Amino acid sequence: MKKQQQSFEYLSYDDISELEESDRLLLQAARKVAEQAYAPYSNFRVGAVMQLANGQTLSGTNQENASFPVGICAERTALSAASSLYPGVAIQTIAVSYHNMEGSSSHPISPCGICRQTLAEYEQRQQQPIRLIMGGQSGKVYILPAASLLLPLSFSAKDMD
Ligand code: THU
Repeated sequence: MKKQQQSFEYLSYDDISELEESDRLLLQAARKVAEQAYAPYSNFRVGAVMQLANGQTLSGTNQENASFPVGICAERTALSAASSLYPGVAIQTIAVSYHNMEGSSSHPISPCGICRQTLAEYEQRQQQPIRLIMGGQSGKVYILPAASLLLPLSFSAKDMD
């Protein structure tokens, strides 16, 4: 028997002002686009903005439904848009932010399990990591070099070989 350990490094910033300009702009855009979410059931509005390798940026917001499980998270809305509009173009970075029920948020959002699985698949498809910027409307910001780090020992196509 062997004990195994897995850990990863990420960057933690006290405030958005510490980010380099391109990252700051993406997170600012994610903060703003969160306002456009369709989230009448949870009132938790999430925005995701991604930078593509072709210079385009694309955004997504969570889209809820009266039949709750039908709703889709902001991250997967944005990923589907990127893959549909610009197939084969790599996603370099995705910034995610949110407003909570009080209309604010002061700690970094963390993608849900389904989004982590989806992000991991997109990284595999494009054979390139997707940087992930996680923030709120204020406060700390985390930057991960690869979104798939959030899902260690994940299930993937390799497990089906
Ligand atoms: N949600 C997202 O859009 N992204 C996340 O990373 C976490 C959760 C959405 C799903 C649902 O519409 C609402 O937030 C509350 O869970």
